[in-house]
Amino acid sequence: MPARTAAPLTAAAIDALRALTPGAQGTTHFNHGGASLPSAATLEAIYSHLQREAMLGPMEAGVAARQQTERARTLAAQLLNAQPAEIALTTGNSPGWGAAFAALGAWQPGDRILVGRHEWGGNLATMRLTAQRAGASIEAIASDSSGAVDPEALEAMLDDRVRLIALTWLPANGGLINPAAAIGKVARRHGIPYFIDAAQAVGQLPIDVAQLGCDVLSGAGRKALRGPRGTGLLYVRQDFLPRLTPAFVDTYSAPLDAHGEPVLRAGAARFESAEASMALRCGLANALQEALEIGLENIRARIDATAQALRAQLAAIPGVTVLDQGHERSGLVAFNLAGQDPVSVQRSLAAQGVVIGSNGAAYTPLDMRAGGLSQIARASVSYLTTEAEIGRLLEGLRALAR
Ligand SMILES: Cc1ncc(COP(=O)(O)O)c(C=O)c1O
Repeated sequence: MPARTAAPLTAAAIDALRALTPGAQGTTHFNHGGASLPSAATLEAIYSHLQREAMLGPMEAGVAARQQTERARTLAAQLLNAQPAEIALTTGNSPGWGAAFAALGAWQPGDRILVGRHEWGGNLATMRLTAQRAGASIEAIASDSSGAVDPEALEAMLDDRVRLIALTWLPANGGLINPAAAIGKVARRHGIPYFIDAAQAVGQLPIDVAQLGCDVLSGAGRKALRGPRGTGLLYVRQDFLPRLTPAFVDTYSAPLDAHGEPVLRAGAARFESAEASMALRCGLANALQEALEIGLENIRARIDATAQALRAQLAAIPGVTVLDQGHERSGLVAFNLAGQDPVSVQRSLAAQGVVIGSNGAAYTPLDMRAGGLSQIARASVSYLTTEAEIGRLLEGLRALAR
Protein backbone atom coordinates (compact mmCIF):
# COMPACT_ATOMS: atom_id res chain seq x y z
CA MET A 1 0.00 0.00 0.00
CA PRO A 2 1.55 3.38 -0.98
CA ALA A 3 0.86 4.83 2.50
CA ARG A 4 3.44 2.45 3.97
CA THR A 5 5.99 1.85 1.24
CA ALA A 6 6.89 5.38 0.04
CA ALA A 7 10.45 6.62 0.69
CA PRO A 8 11.05 8.86 3.72
CA LEU A 9 10.91 12.60 3.04
CA THR A 10 14.45 13.86 2.50
CA ALA A 11 15.35 17.56 2.24
CA ALA A 12 15.67 17.08 -1.54
CA ALA A 13 12.20 15.52 -1.69
CA ILE A 14 10.75 18.47 0.24
CA ASP A 15 12.46 20.92 -2.12
CA ALA A 16 10.95 19.07 -5.08
CA LEU A 17 7.47 19.12 -3.53
CA ARG A 18 7.82 22.83 -2.75
CA ALA A 19 8.87 23.54 -6.33
CA LEU A 20 5.55 21.99 -7.40
CA THR A 21 3.58 24.20 -4.96
CA PRO A 22 2.94 27.71 -6.33
CA GLY A 23 2.08 29.18 -2.90
CA ALA A 24 5.35 27.99 -1.38
CA GLN A 25 7.27 30.36 -3.66
CA GLY A 26 5.84 33.60 -2.31
CA THR A 27 4.68 33.26 1.30
CA THR A 28 6.02 31.84 4.53
CA HIS A 29 2.94 29.86 5.42
CA PHE A 30 2.33 28.71 8.99
CA ASN A 31 -1.43 28.37 8.65
CA HIS A 32 -1.61 24.85 7.24
CA GLY A 33 -4.11 24.06 10.02
CA GLY A 34 -6.40 26.78 8.64
CA ALA A 35 -5.88 25.76 5.03
CA SER A 36 -2.71 24.48 3.40
CA LEU A 37 -1.20 25.21 -0.02
CA PRO A 38 -2.35 23.01 -2.92
CA SER A 39 0.07 21.57 -5.45
CA ALA A 40 0.16 22.74 -9.06
CA ALA A 41 -1.24 19.36 -10.10
CA THR A 42 -4.23 19.74 -7.75
CA LEU A 43 -4.89 23.20 -9.19
CA GLU A 44 -4.55 21.79 -12.70
CA ALA A 45 -7.08 19.04 -11.93
CA ILE A 46 -9.56 21.75 -10.88
CA TYR A 47 -8.88 24.03 -13.86
CA SER A 48 -9.07 21.26 -16.40
CA HIS A 49 -12.45 20.10 -15.18
CA LEU A 50 -13.77 23.67 -15.25
CA GLN A 51 -12.47 23.85 -18.80
CA ARG A 52 -14.23 20.57 -19.67
CA GLU A 53 -17.46 21.93 -18.21
CA ALA A 54 -17.08 25.18 -20.14
CA MET A 55 -16.46 23.40 -23.43
CA LEU A 56 -18.83 20.42 -23.21
CA GLY A 57 -21.48 21.88 -20.92
CA PRO A 58 -21.33 21.31 -17.15
CA MET A 59 -23.83 18.44 -17.14
CA GLU A 60 -22.29 16.89 -20.28
CA ALA A 61 -18.89 16.79 -18.55
CA GLY A 62 -20.54 14.50 -16.01
CA VAL A 63 -18.86 11.26 -17.12
CA ALA A 64 -15.43 12.56 -16.15
CA ALA A 65 -16.91 14.04 -12.98
CA ARG A 66 -18.40 10.70 -11.94
CA GLN A 67 -15.10 8.94 -12.55
CA GLN A 68 -13.23 11.50 -10.46
CA THR A 69 -15.86 11.35 -7.71
CA GLU A 70 -15.44 7.58 -7.46
CA ARG A 71 -11.66 7.94 -7.63
CA ALA A 72 -11.75 10.41 -4.72
CA ARG A 73 -14.01 8.04 -2.77
CA THR A 74 -11.72 5.07 -3.35
CA LEU A 75 -8.60 7.03 -2.41
CA ALA A 76 -10.29 8.45 0.69
CA ALA A 77 -11.24 4.91 1.71
CA GLN A 78 -7.62 3.86 1.24
CA LEU A 79 -6.46 6.81 3.36
CA LEU A 80 -8.76 5.78 6.23
CA ASN A 81 -8.53 1.97 5.82
CA ALA A 82 -12.24 1.92 5.04
CA GLN A 83 -14.43 0.66 2.18
CA PRO A 84 -15.43 3.09 -0.60
CA ALA A 85 -19.10 2.54 0.31
CA GLU A 86 -18.32 3.94 3.78
CA ILE A 87 -17.18 7.31 2.38
CA ALA A 88 -19.24 10.39 1.54
CA LEU A 89 -17.63 13.35 -0.20
CA THR A 90 -18.69 16.55 1.55
CA THR A 91 -17.97 20.25 1.37
CA GLY A 92 -16.00 20.54 4.63
CA ASN A 93 -15.63 19.00 8.05
CA SER A 94 -18.75 20.48 9.66
CA PRO A 95 -21.17 19.61 6.83
CA GLY A 96 -20.21 15.92 7.18
CA TRP A 97 -20.11 15.85 10.96
CA GLY A 98 -23.38 17.79 11.20
CA ALA A 99 -25.16 15.58 8.64
CA ALA A 100 -24.20 12.44 10.57
CA PHE A 101 -25.25 13.99 13.89
CA ALA A 102 -28.59 15.16 12.49
CA ALA A 103 -29.17 11.62 11.16
CA LEU A 104 -29.04 10.10 14.66
CA GLY A 105 -32.77 10.80 14.95
CA ALA A 106 -34.91 12.11 17.79
CA TRP A 107 -33.38 12.92 21.15
CA GLN A 108 -35.22 12.39 24.42
CA PRO A 109 -35.17 14.32 27.68
CA GLY A 110 -32.35 12.92 29.83
CA ASP A 111 -30.27 11.66 26.87
CA ARG A 112 -26.58 12.36 27.41
CA ILE A 113 -23.81 13.36 25.01
CA LEU A 114 -20.25 13.05 26.31
CA VAL A 115 -17.60 15.23 24.66
CA GLY A 116 -13.89 15.79 25.04
CA ARG A 117 -12.89 19.16 26.49
CA HIS A 118 -11.37 20.13 23.12
CA GLU A 119 -14.50 19.62 21.05
CA TRP A 120 -14.72 21.89 18.03
CA GLY A 121 -17.03 24.85 18.75
CA GLY A 122 -19.14 24.24 15.65
CA ASN A 123 -19.90 20.67 16.73
CA LEU A 124 -20.74 21.89 20.23
CA ALA A 125 -23.11 24.50 18.81
CA THR A 126 -24.80 21.85 16.64
CA MET A 127 -25.21 19.51 19.61
CA ARG A 128 -26.40 22.28 21.89
CA LEU A 129 -29.22 23.36 19.56
CA THR A 130 -30.50 19.77 19.50
CA ALA A 131 -29.91 19.09 23.20
CA GLN A 132 -31.69 22.28 24.27
CA ARG A 133 -34.76 21.41 22.20
CA ALA A 134 -34.89 17.85 23.51
CA GLY A 135 -33.87 18.35 27.13
CA ALA A 136 -30.72 16.30 26.58
CA SER A 137 -27.39 17.16 28.20
CA ILE A 138 -23.85 17.68 26.93
CA GLU A 139 -21.14 16.81 29.46
CA ALA A 140 -17.39 17.20 29.21
CA ILE A 141 -15.25 14.13 29.88
CA ALA A 142 -12.49 14.95 32.37
CA SER A 143 -8.96 15.26 31.04
CA ASP A 144 -5.91 13.67 32.65
CA SER A 145 -3.17 15.81 34.22
CA SER A 146 -1.59 16.36 30.76
CA GLY A 147 -4.84 17.80 29.40
CA ALA A 148 -5.69 14.82 27.16
CA VAL A 149 -9.18 13.29 27.33
CA ASP A 150 -9.06 10.49 29.90
CA PRO A 151 -10.57 7.14 28.77
CA GLU A 152 -10.94 5.98 32.39
CA ALA A 153 -12.87 9.12 33.29
CA LEU A 154 -15.10 8.42 30.30
CA GLU A 155 -15.76 4.86 31.43
CA ALA A 156 -16.77 6.08 34.88
CA MET A 157 -19.38 8.44 33.38
CA LEU A 158 -21.23 5.86 31.30
CA ASP A 159 -24.78 4.73 31.85
CA ASP A 160 -27.61 3.66 29.57
CA ARG A 161 -28.62 7.25 28.86
CA VAL A 162 -25.36 8.05 27.00
CA ARG A 163 -26.27 8.16 23.30
CA LEU A 164 -23.11 9.64 21.84
CA ILE A 165 -19.41 10.06 22.57
CA ALA A 166 -17.81 12.86 20.52
CA LEU A 167 -14.08 13.51 20.34
CA THR A 168 -12.06 16.14 18.50
CA TRP A 169 -8.90 14.17 17.85
CA LEU A 170 -6.45 16.99 17.09
CA PRO A 171 -7.85 20.14 18.72
CA ALA A 172 -7.67 23.40 16.78
CA ASN A 173 -6.16 25.46 19.58
CA GLY A 174 -3.30 23.37 20.88
CA GLY A 175 -0.72 20.73 20.02
CA LEU A 176 -2.50 17.81 21.61
CA ILE A 177 -3.31 14.48 19.95
CA ASN A 178 -6.14 12.95 21.94
CA PRO A 179 -6.09 9.17 22.60
CA ALA A 180 -8.79 8.47 20.02
CA ALA A 181 -8.23 4.69 19.83
CA ALA A 182 -8.37 4.27 23.64
CA ILE A 183 -11.66 6.25 23.71
CA GLY A 184 -12.87 4.02 20.86
CA LYS A 185 -12.18 0.89 22.93
CA VAL A 186 -14.47 2.21 25.67
CA ALA A 187 -17.15 3.20 23.16
CA ARG A 188 -17.05 -0.23 21.47
CA ARG A 189 -17.10 -2.12 24.77
CA HIS A 190 -20.31 -0.32 25.73
CA GLY A 191 -21.83 -0.18 22.23
CA ILE A 192 -22.17 3.62 22.26
CA PRO A 193 -21.99 5.60 18.99
CA TYR A 194 -18.61 7.30 18.67
CA PHE A 195 -17.93 10.31 16.41
CA ILE A 196 -14.40 11.58 15.71
CA ASP A 197 -13.77 15.06 14.38
CA ALA A 198 -10.59 14.44 12.39
CA ALA A 199 -10.54 17.81 10.58
CA GLN A 200 -6.89 18.33 11.52
CA ALA A 201 -5.89 14.66 11.42
CA VAL A 202 -6.82 13.77 7.83
CA GLY A 203 -3.63 14.07 5.79
CA GLN A 204 -1.51 14.63 8.90
CA LEU A 205 -1.59 11.19 10.55
CA PRO A 206 -1.96 7.61 9.36
CA ILE A 207 -5.62 6.80 10.05
CA ASP A 208 -7.15 3.37 10.50
CA VAL A 209 -10.85 3.62 11.33
CA ALA A 210 -10.96 -0.03 12.39
CA GLN A 211 -8.25 0.58 14.96
CA LEU A 212 -9.95 3.81 16.13
CA GLY A 213 -13.22 1.96 16.71
CA CYS A 214 -15.29 4.93 15.53
CA ASP A 215 -18.71 4.88 13.88
CA VAL A 216 -18.30 8.25 12.20
CA LEU A 217 -15.19 10.24 11.29
CA SER A 218 -15.15 13.59 9.53
CA GLY A 219 -12.32 15.46 7.84
CA ALA A 220 -11.62 18.56 5.79
CA GLY A 221 -9.89 18.53 2.41
CA ARG A 222 -8.17 21.89 2.65
CA LYS A 223 -5.96 21.35 5.71
CA ALA A 224 -3.14 18.80 6.01
CA LEU A 225 -4.36 17.00 2.91
CA ARG A 226 -3.73 20.12 0.78
CA GLY A 227 -7.00 19.67 -1.12
CA PRO A 228 -9.19 22.53 -2.27
CA ARG A 229 -11.41 24.59 0.02
CA GLY A 230 -15.00 23.43 -0.06
CA THR A 231 -14.14 19.72 0.14
CA GLY A 232 -14.36 17.21 2.96
CA LEU A 233 -14.74 13.53 3.81
CA LEU A 234 -17.23 11.67 5.93
CA TYR A 235 -16.67 8.06 6.99
CA VAL A 236 -19.63 6.08 8.32
CA ARG A 237 -19.01 2.50 9.47
CA GLN A 238 -20.97 0.09 7.29
CA ASP A 239 -22.82 -1.56 10.17
CA PHE A 240 -23.70 1.83 11.67
CA LEU A 241 -25.23 3.19 8.49
CA PRO A 242 -28.70 1.63 9.00
CA ARG A 243 -28.94 3.60 12.27
CA LEU A 244 -28.65 6.91 10.41
CA THR A 245 -31.53 8.57 8.56
CA PRO A 246 -30.34 11.69 6.74
CA ALA A 247 -32.17 14.83 7.90
CA PHE A 248 -32.81 15.67 4.25
CA VAL A 249 -32.26 13.92 0.94
CA ASP A 250 -32.48 14.72 -2.76
CA THR A 251 -32.87 12.93 -6.06
CA TYR A 252 -29.34 11.55 -5.74
CA SER A 253 -29.25 10.46 -2.10
CA ALA A 254 -32.77 8.99 -2.07
CA PRO A 255 -34.46 8.79 -5.49
CA LEU A 256 -38.18 8.01 -5.46
CA ASP A 257 -39.13 4.53 -6.71
CA ALA A 258 -42.05 3.67 -8.99
CA HIS A 259 -44.41 3.90 -6.00
CA GLY A 260 -43.12 7.33 -5.03
CA GLU A 261 -41.16 5.97 -2.06
CA PRO A 262 -37.68 7.36 -1.35
CA VAL A 263 -34.96 4.71 -1.66
CA LEU A 264 -31.89 5.68 0.34
CA ARG A 265 -28.62 5.21 -1.51
CA ALA A 266 -26.87 2.12 -0.15
CA GLY A 267 -23.62 3.55 1.16
CA ALA A 268 -22.45 6.67 2.94
CA ALA A 269 -23.12 8.49 -0.36
CA ARG A 270 -26.63 8.96 1.03
CA PHE A 271 -25.01 12.00 2.69
CA GLU A 272 -24.06 13.51 -0.66
CA SER A 273 -26.16 15.81 -2.84
CA ALA A 274 -26.75 15.78 -6.58
CA GLU A 275 -25.29 19.24 -6.87
CA ALA A 276 -21.63 19.65 -5.96
CA SER A 277 -18.50 21.21 -7.39
CA MET A 278 -17.14 18.46 -9.61
CA ALA A 279 -13.99 20.51 -10.26
CA LEU A 280 -13.21 20.57 -6.55
CA ARG A 281 -13.73 16.82 -6.35
CA CYS A 282 -11.16 16.43 -9.14
CA GLY A 283 -8.77 18.55 -7.06
CA LEU A 284 -9.53 16.51 -3.95
CA ALA A 285 -8.84 13.25 -5.80
CA ASN A 286 -5.43 14.56 -6.83
CA ALA A 287 -4.59 15.74 -3.30
CA LEU A 288 -5.56 12.33 -1.90
CA GLN A 289 -3.38 10.59 -4.50
CA GLU A 290 -0.42 12.82 -3.61
CA ALA A 291 -0.76 12.20 0.13
CA LEU A 292 -0.93 8.44 -0.40
CA GLU A 293 2.09 8.54 -2.68
CA ILE A 294 4.17 10.50 -0.16
CA GLY A 295 2.98 8.13 2.57
CA LEU A 296 1.16 9.06 5.74
CA GLU A 297 3.86 7.59 7.98
CA ASN A 298 6.39 9.83 6.24
CA ILE A 299 4.13 12.87 6.50
CA ARG A 300 3.53 12.28 10.21
CA ALA A 301 7.26 11.76 10.90
CA ARG A 302 8.24 14.94 9.08
CA ILE A 303 5.48 17.10 10.65
CA ASP A 304 6.33 15.77 14.11
CA ALA A 305 10.06 16.52 13.75
CA THR A 306 9.35 20.00 12.35
CA ALA A 307 6.78 20.88 15.01
CA GLN A 308 9.04 19.65 17.83
CA ALA A 309 11.93 21.77 16.51
CA LEU A 310 9.63 24.78 16.27
CA ARG A 311 8.30 24.24 19.81
CA ALA A 312 11.80 24.05 21.31
CA GLN A 313 12.95 27.23 19.56
CA LEU A 314 9.75 29.13 20.36
CA ALA A 315 10.03 28.21 24.03
CA ALA A 316 13.55 29.70 24.09
CA ILE A 317 12.25 33.18 23.13
CA PRO A 318 11.77 35.28 26.28
CA GLY A 319 8.06 35.96 26.85
CA VAL A 320 6.80 33.11 24.61
CA THR A 321 4.64 30.43 26.23
CA VAL A 322 3.98 27.32 24.16
CA LEU A 323 0.47 26.14 25.00
CA ASP A 324 0.87 22.39 24.55
CA GLN A 325 -1.13 19.68 26.26
CA GLY A 326 -1.03 15.89 26.20
CA HIS A 327 1.84 13.52 25.55
CA GLU A 328 1.55 13.14 21.80
CA ARG A 329 1.73 16.36 19.79
CA SER A 330 0.42 17.46 16.40
CA GLY A 331 1.69 20.01 13.90
CA LEU A 332 -0.49 22.74 15.45
CA VAL A 333 1.73 24.85 17.68
CA ALA A 334 -0.23 27.25 19.88
CA PHE A 335 1.61 29.92 21.81
CA ASN A 336 1.30 33.37 23.31
CA LEU A 337 3.70 36.26 23.63
CA ALA A 338 3.60 38.00 27.02
CA GLY A 339 1.85 41.37 26.95
CA GLN A 340 0.87 41.08 23.27
CA ASP A 341 -2.50 40.39 21.80
CA PRO A 342 -2.30 37.31 19.46
CA VAL A 343 -4.21 39.17 16.74
CA SER A 344 -1.58 41.95 16.76
CA VAL A 345 1.20 39.33 16.70
CA GLN A 346 -0.47 37.75 13.67
CA ARG A 347 -0.78 41.14 11.93
CA SER A 348 2.81 42.15 12.63
CA LEU A 349 4.13 38.86 11.25
CA ALA A 350 1.84 39.12 8.20
CA ALA A 351 3.38 42.53 7.45
CA GLN A 352 6.71 40.68 7.15
CA GLY A 353 5.23 37.99 4.88
CA VAL A 354 4.91 35.36 7.62
CA VAL A 355 1.41 33.89 7.91
CA ILE A 356 0.22 32.43 11.21
CA GLY A 357 -3.27 31.88 12.66
CA SER A 358 -4.91 33.50 15.63
CA ASN A 359 -7.82 31.65 17.19
CA GLY A 360 -10.44 32.78 19.67
CA ALA A 361 -12.20 30.86 22.42
CA ALA A 362 -15.12 29.97 20.13
CA TYR A 363 -13.05 27.29 18.36
CA THR A 364 -12.53 25.15 21.48
CA PRO A 365 -14.60 26.94 24.16
CA LEU A 366 -14.46 24.31 26.91
CA ASP A 367 -10.69 23.91 26.70
CA MET A 368 -9.96 27.62 26.34
CA ARG A 369 -12.06 28.29 29.46
CA ALA A 370 -10.24 25.51 31.34
CA GLY A 371 -6.91 27.12 30.39
CA GLY A 372 -8.10 30.66 31.18
CA LEU A 373 -7.43 31.69 27.56
CA SER A 374 -9.39 33.98 25.25
CA GLN A 375 -7.13 33.99 22.18
CA ILE A 376 -4.03 32.12 21.03
CA ALA A 377 -1.47 32.55 18.27
CA ARG A 378 -1.02 29.39 16.21
CA ALA A 379 1.79 28.35 13.89
CA SER A 380 0.73 25.17 12.11
CA VAL A 381 3.30 23.31 10.05
CA SER A 382 3.14 21.01 7.04
CA TYR A 383 5.63 18.49 5.69
CA LEU A 384 6.47 21.35 3.29
CA THR A 385 7.72 23.58 6.14
CA THR A 386 11.47 24.24 6.03
CA GLU A 387 14.10 25.33 8.56
CA ALA A 388 14.46 28.60 6.66
CA GLU A 389 10.74 29.29 7.16
CA ILE A 390 11.02 28.52 10.86
CA GLY A 391 13.96 30.92 10.97
CA ARG A 392 11.84 33.73 9.46
CA LEU A 393 9.02 33.10 11.93
CA LEU A 394 11.38 33.10 14.91
CA GLU A 395 13.16 36.21 13.69
CA GLY A 396 9.83 38.05 13.48
CA LEU A 397 8.81 36.88 16.95
CA ARG A 398 12.18 37.75 18.52
CA ALA A 399 11.81 41.28 17.15
CA LEU A 400 8.31 41.54 18.63
CA ALA A 401 9.49 40.15 21.96
CA ARG A 402 12.20 42.83 22.34
C1 LIG B 1 -10.76 20.40 14.81
C2 LIG B 1 -11.62 21.12 13.81
N1 LIG B 1 -12.87 20.70 13.61
C3 LIG B 1 -13.68 21.31 12.71
C4 LIG B 1 -13.25 22.38 11.97
C5 LIG B 1 -14.19 23.02 10.99
O1 LIG B 1 -13.96 22.57 9.71
P1 LIG B 1 -14.82 23.13 8.49
O2 LIG B 1 -14.58 24.61 8.45
O3 LIG B 1 -14.28 22.41 7.29
O4 LIG B 1 -16.23 22.82 8.75
C6 LIG B 1 -11.95 22.85 12.15
C7 LIG B 1 -11.47 24.00 11.37
O5 LIG B 1 -10.44 24.56 11.60
C8 LIG B 1 -11.12 22.21 13.10
O6 LIG B 1 -9.87 22.63 13.32
